[in-house]
Amino acid sequence: MTKAPRKAPKKEQKQVETTGHSWDGIEEYNNPLPRWWLWTFYASIVFAVGYMIAYPAWPLMERATPGVLGFSTRGDVAEEIKRFEEMNAGIEKKLAETDITEVAQDPELKHYATQAGAAVFKTWCIQCHGAGGQGAKGFPNLLDDEWLWGGDLENIHITVNHGIRTEADEETRTGDMPAWADVLEPDELVAVVEYVLSFNQKDANAKLVEAGKVVFEDNCTACHGEDAKGDPDLGAPDLTNAIWLYGGSREDIMESVANGRAGVMPNWNARLSEADIKAVAFYVHGLGGGQ
Ligand code: HEC
Ligand code: HEC
Repeated sequence: MTKAPRKAPKKEQKQVETTGHSWDGIEEYNNPLPRWWLWTFYASIVFAVGYMIAYPAWPLMERATPGVLGFSTRGDVAEEIKRFEEMNAGIEKKLAETDITEVAQDPELKHYATQAGAAVFKTWCIQCHGAGGQGAKGFPNLLDDEWLWGGDLENIHITVNHGIRTEADEETRTGDMPAWADVLEPDELVAVVEYVLSFNQKDANAKLVEAGKVVFEDNCTACHGEDAKGDPDLGAPDLTNAIWLYGGSREDIMESVANGRAGVMPNWNARLSEADIKAVAFYVHGLGGGQ
């Protein structure tokens, strides 16, 4: 028995319209678009119109059309910030009212002051004092225990609050390092610089040092003290400890003495809240050098 040859399924060849295009005998059908595709297409048009009405969409000269829902990412952020401010309002008020020397006694307040202080420091202080508070020439290191204006909590608080040599605050720290070039004879200048150098350098010229000591006693002790260890009430630094704000080379010291120095720091009470100032002062005190 032989099998009957398999027949092709009997399907009626539909008569489909063609577009009339033909490539090498292959013709292009003109089938209708699939229904699912068409509905998705209409739905996306409806969605787009709705979206343009509800949300900011059309760019205008200044800004986009606002949309009837009034949504804006900026508004979202503002709301978020407000939420955090409300959350912190209680503890900030408490911090503002607490004496800075008592902050450490309240664990919650201490924790908040340290965290908030670090954030304030990163935003407002690192430009001048460095990311870790290590300072740079003309901008004091806040980690060591050399303090121009005193390193206890109260003094740091006053310094940050009222600034240093700024005209914007009447209670600012003031104290001059005069320019001595016009006051002293050139050889007196050279001698007193040698004397200052001799606190840290063994190779200082002994003869000059001796003459310089006299110049120092006559002109410098009023601010830097008999022992040259400075006076925080006047912002006059200790000259004996090898920590230099303006550099400790012979040239640097000559520059400081001949032309004077007057570092300026803004009064932060013009920009920061009392709570923020206390927090950052507390943070700086905790960096390592606090007294
Ligand atoms: C524009 C630069 C600048 C910024 C910003 C700045 N400081 Fe200062 N700061 C200085 C200078 C300059 C001095 C030293 C002034 C002087 O020579 O007496 C100083 C001194 C200080 C002192 C005193 C140091 C000492 O030895 O007694 C403290 C504390 C201090 N700054 C804290 C801060 C804190 C906290 C911030 C941020 C809220 C800050 N500073 C932001 C420039 C700045
Ligand atoms: C009226 C007070 C006053 C007198 C007098 C004075 N100084 Fe100063 N001196 C200061 C102050 C304040 C500073 C800090 C300036 C600053 O922070 O910008 C300073 C800074 C210095 C510095 C820079 C220190 C550093 O860390 O870089 C040197 C050096 C110095 N004085 C030496 C002298 C010598 C030497 C004399 C005497 C010829 C003298 N000073 C007299 C107030 C004084």
